Amino acid sequence: MAGKERGLEELFVETLKDIYYAEKQILRSLPKMAKAATTEALRDAFMKHRDETEMQIERLERVFETMGKAARGKSCQAILGIVEESQEVMEDFKGSAALDAGILASAQAVEHYEISRYGTLVTWANQLGMKDAGKLLSQTLEEEKKTDVLLSRLAEQAVNRQAA
Ligand SMILES: [Fe+2]
Repeated sequence: MAGKERGLEELFVETLKDIYYAEKQILRSLPKMAKAATTEALRDAFMKHRDETEMQIERLERVFETMGKAARGKSCQAILGIVEESQEVMEDFKGSAALDAGILASAQAVEHYEISRYGTLVTWANQLGMKDAGKLLSQTLEEEKKTDVLLSRLAEQAVNRQAA
């Protein structure tokens, strides 16, 4: 019997597992970022996104469900690296006026990773004719993009505050 070719559907599932793992890491990391942040606005933004992240994890579980698969994560070195760097910034810049700017930069790196993954997953879901999965994933993609825009605004404010 010839070996079954691994195709786009397998690639989709592997990437789904990657982002499922990543979201769980992010869920744990956001309260730490909120705790380290020095302004109310920033703390609120991180805690609000923590709640959104819970919903995003649920959405991913529904996507697994539409495929008749159990939700499972796959260790993702990329997100572990980004989260580790954010912890370094929080330690190294504790007490510094530049701390918020550093935390925000890390948070945006996380968002950009997610936007990249979800963007790919939406495209693949549509190519595979998985309409429901595509819809769920684009909802999350839009949330991540909105969060990124909000973080950009907060980052500008943080830098301005520091300059003042
Ligand atoms: Fe997310």
